[in-house]
Amino acid sequence: MERKVEVFDDDVTEAEIAVHLREEGYYHAPPKFIAQANLTDPDIFKRFSLENFPECFKEYADLLTWSKYWEKTLDTSNAPFWRWFVGGKLNACYNCVDRHLEKHRNKAAIHFVPEIESEPIIHMTYQELFMRVNELAAFLRNFCGLKTGDRVTLHMPMVAELPITMLACARIGVIHSQVFSGFSGRAVVDRMIDSGSDILITMDGYYRNGVLQNHKGQADVACEHAHEHDFNIEKVLIWQRHPGTYSSKRPLVEGRDFIINDMLKHYHHTTIDPVQMSAEAPLFLMYTSGTTGKPKGCQHSTGGYLAYAAGTARIVQDIHPEDVYWCMADIGWITGHTYIVYGPLALGASTVIYEGVPTYPDAGRPWRIAEELGVNIFHTSPTAIRALRRSGPDEPKKHNYHFKHMTTVGEPIEPEVWKWYYEVVGKGEAVIVDTWWQTETGGVLCSTVPGLHPMKPGTAGPGMPGIHVVIYDEDGNEIPRGANRAGNICIRNPWPGIFQTIWGDSERFVKSYYAHYNKKEKSTDWRDWPYFASDGAVQTEDGYYRILGRIDDVINVAGHRLGSKEIESAALTVDEVAEAAVVPVADEIKGRIPDLYVALKPGFQPSHELEQRISAAVVSEISPIARPRRVWIVPDMPKTRSGKIMRRVLAAISSGSDTGDVSTLANPEIVAELRKMANP
Ligand code: PRX
Repeated sequence: MERKVEVFDDDVTEAEIAVHLREEGYYHAPPKFIAQANLTDPDIFKRFSLENFPECFKEYADLLTWSKYWEKTLDTSNAPFWRWFVGGKLNACYNCVDRHLEKHRNKAAIHFVPEIESEPIIHMTYQELFMRVNELAAFLRNFCGLKTGDRVTLHMPMVAELPITMLACARIGVIHSQVFSGFSGRAVVDRMIDSGSDILITMDGYYRNGVLQNHKGQADVACEHAHEHDFNIEKVLIWQRHPGTYSSKRPLVEGRDFIINDMLKHYHHTTIDPVQMSAEAPLFLMYTSGTTGKPKGCQHSTGGYLAYAAGTARIVQDIHPEDVYWCMADIGWITGHTYIVYGPLALGASTVIYEGVPTYPDAGRPWRIAEELGVNIFHTSPTAIRALRRSGPDEPKKHNYHFKHMTTVGEPIEPEVWKWYYEVVGKGEAVIVDTWWQTETGGVLCSTVPGLHPMKPGTAGPGMPGIHVVIYDEDGNEIPRGANRAGNICIRNPWPGIFQTIWGDSERFVKSYYAHYNKKEKSTDWRDWPYFASDGAVQTEDGYYRILGRIDDVINVAGHRLGSKEIESAALTVDEVAEAAVVPVADEIKGRIPDLYVALKPGFQPSHELEQRISAAVVSEISPIARPRRVWIVPDMPKTRSGKIMRRVLAAISSGSDTGDVSTLANPEIVAELRKMANP
């Protein structure tokens, strides 16, 4: 598939780019799937039409148990700060755990699969999850003094203790902010400072590629870095990866570090009542990248978010309580929050948590897990699918598992990769949903509904029920269906899963997501506030949306969302660096990876050692996932006459494509020099 994506502003807009993509044929769901699907009634789209908005979303909210039913479905009086299910009260933990005990007490809520294959799988029942969550909630409340509305930061790997911790927070109304475990301690602190959270919950170690990581070391880095910012991390709470044994070589700091497994002995069999929260009380923060260097804390609500998570998990993932559902994503990102933890558990399903790397120790691992646990719903990213396809194209055939349903999320999937997923992984028996959404949106926005729409490789699908999608050009004109012209994908109406605000920065919230096409700043009519997603897209004649990629400075590396400004700021922490610019380059497995260009301050000379030091700074400031493909130390950056770095030109140099007309640059001669450097 030819993908034409302009990720940087400069002088070309998405709407001006003609998109020529080959149309793919349809695939139809097997009758066996349709016969059991949660949703096969096409009237859903009538029920969720704009005439029935916002009341239609009652259908999702009614999947939850409310301690007090809401009075008003949607309050728009402070647009675009939407308030859903106003007056309602509920507890997210109660909805994901307690209410299932009566029917499903003895059923597996979580299957935890350790990366080391000889370690036994842990099958945790709803009853056991209930006990563990209660004990931890009591500890957090009584020992740590955490109370409703406080923020607590989690830096946890993919272990059962992560959902336990999230649910314990939710039980007492504490707002959790989980930071992806692959992020560095320094990145953790930036997020702690921003959210005003002085308690860090982590784990001593976890396995990755067969190696026990010294994860506690990152907590120490965080504490040191916090001091540099005059910020104090008051407590570091540490889960043991192997209960009863401390797996890190890092000493515990007296009075600051506490082993949770030891502390919980004092809370054995303690249960505490779930705190009934207002529907609009924040449930969690999820930091994500945007255009500026500062990550944004997306604030998600309790009632609206959980209703949307449960509703979409039911409709799109087709989860039934008897299913064994495996989302091989990371709970450190929104996909894991919504579709590993909150969605499946709200529906009373069994959710699989796999600790490690999909291809460890070999590319047959996921299929062995699927066979062992009888997984029938599978969910992962195009990056994982590409990696498994490359390293073990025939592995799925060797294993006796049967999926009814598979999901892809987070990046565009190439039709060839989609077809391998369908034919080889799904054995031609499973439907696929290609789900487009974002950290901000809480749940899926565009996808086929598997019991209703045929699938089309490489294309997400139409808007979900109640999600009314529109593509605008730069001037705010609607691009007609099937026009084969790319534009900015927007959602006309609010929906319950939409995030409430950016923590501590409501101005940026309005500016980044709503100001673009709003013509009446004071309007309280939701029709005046389309949600601006920052993705380019085209709508084909059948009404399906094909997502082209970010139109802002976000680079999607292996499905991880990174801000170019964040990487550039990390490079600028190296003394010698005067200017830095990051551009994405295509990568066969990861989709995109960053290339980093830097110019040095006067008097400094390029060297291999310096390149390595700059690369190491990016890793330590952010994460190994942000490591540049290359650091190019350049004599000068291509610039406009007004001094703006032309990232588009750098991107063309990195990918060996045409730079277009550069004669209007302030320094056009640099382009040939850089091209020679990059392609000697
Ligand atoms: O560019 C889109 C891409 O991932 C971005 C959102 O990233 P994040 O907030 O980390 O959430 C990822 C998981 C929901 C989007 O702006 N993206 C997400 N899903 C798709 C996609 N691109 C193409 N196809 C998708 N299905």
